[in-house]
Amino acid sequence: MTTRDSFSGRFGIIAAAAGSAIGLGNIWRFPYVCGQNGGGAFLLVYLICIVLMGLPIMLSEFSIGRKAQSNAYRAFKILSPKSPWYLIGVMGIIAAFTIMSFYSAVGGWTIEYIVRSATNSMSDNPAAQFEGFISGSYKPLAYQLAFLALSFGIVMMGVRKGIESSSKILMPLLLILLIILCIRSVTLPGAVEGLKFLLKPDFSKLTGNSVLLAMGQAFFSLSLGMGCMITYGSYIKREEDLTSSAGMIAGADVFIALLAGIAVFPAAASLGIEPDSGPGLAFITLPGMFQQMAGGMIFSSFFFILLCIAALTSSISLIEVVVSFCVEEMRIRRGYATALVAGCIFLLGILCSLSLGIVPGLNLFGMSFFDLMDFSSSNILLPLGGLFIAIYVGWVLKKLITVKELTNDGSLKFVGLRIFYFLIKYIVPVAIMVVFISGLLRST
Ligand code: TRP
Repeated sequence: MTTRDSFSGRFGIIAAAAGSAIGLGNIWRFPYVCGQNGGGAFLLVYLICIVLMGLPIMLSEFSIGRKAQSNAYRAFKILSPKSPWYLIGVMGIIAAFTIMSFYSAVGGWTIEYIVRSATNSMSDNPAAQFEGFISGSYKPLAYQLAFLALSFGIVMMGVRKGIESSSKILMPLLLILLIILCIRSVTLPGAVEGLKFLLKPDFSKLTGNSVLLAMGQAFFSLSLGMGCMITYGSYIKREEDLTSSAGMIAGADVFIALLAGIAVFPAAASLGIEPDSGPGLAFITLPGMFQQMAGGMIFSSFFFILLCIAALTSSISLIEVVVSFCVEEMRIRRGYATALVAGCIFLLGILCSLSLGIVPGLNLFGMSFFDLMDFSSSNILLPLGGLFIAIYVGWVLKKLITVKELTNDGSLKFVGLRIFYFLIKYIVPVAIMVVFISGLLRST
């Protein structure tokens, strides 16, 4: 057995897990899904899901991972031998492929926008430019491939060197830049409408389906429900405090999503872009705003570089789940495993990219292949994974094991322990099932 790599010190794991959580989900996906589902009311449900479901599930995943000291699949085999719970790990691997197929496409868009900003070739009509780009044939694929190559390069170098160092300095920089963008956005003429849209809940817009999408966004944004945080939990040292780490990660994640919303919606209102314009929302609105800023192209270059890095730290966490499975369970060499996984993801990713443009016939269940991968991972696979993890920790795993992890063998006090158990045993499973059923019934 080789010894497992572990993150160095407290800031290391928080930075890495926050690096996984903070990514395109916050800056690209949150505004677009929120915009399509009515704004303020969606935001509120999303926040409730983060607190009532996201935090307990993140704590559960960390506990499982740190106790078992292994990848998600093996963790269940170690903790509950001869039972089918390891299937959660299998589901997670499927989810990782599904997510990476479209995530890498959007990651590719960020690279395209870095190049555009740096070469000063943004057009005056950002919407047309975006459409033109994603419906191209080879260009989106080339950028997607570049994004995958970067991700896999980092994964190949191993956990500590790759993930930790890229998260520590650059995520705070992204935060600062986002704050600047928010200030510019809210001071544009007509911005108030956008702020109102985001912050004033209109409950008449809330349907079973939009609640499902808010829950899915909470899972997606916190990287939950597919074993990612189990794998990362296994790298957390014994003496770290899991509860306060989870709180900080979730707090940072929500804060970045909120800032993204404040950067996007007021600017969209000012520029006359509809909030429900779909996956292109941030990629149309923000470039539109950069053009109205002094030194806009410089801001734009920096912003898309940082966004791309945020996307990379997330995508490597997804890839790491699959690669650690191949290496530790199937005994495939890290290099081969990485190349194999990259190839498979790219094949699926090609379908995602092309379904947005030149192969519009790539439709299944009334959605483009891209939307189908996006919808089925966030709104089906991840909540399902979360449901099983909650049932596992609430009802199957010995309470003593979880309590020992959460309190570091009793040396820490966790005042919320009873609340945690109440949530994970009853509220989380029931809520997921109710939202699931009402949401899926509405959307079909
Ligand atoms: N949370 C990341 C984002 O917001 C995406 C991500 C990384 C993810 N790892 C994950 C989503 C695991 C679900 C599960 O961009």
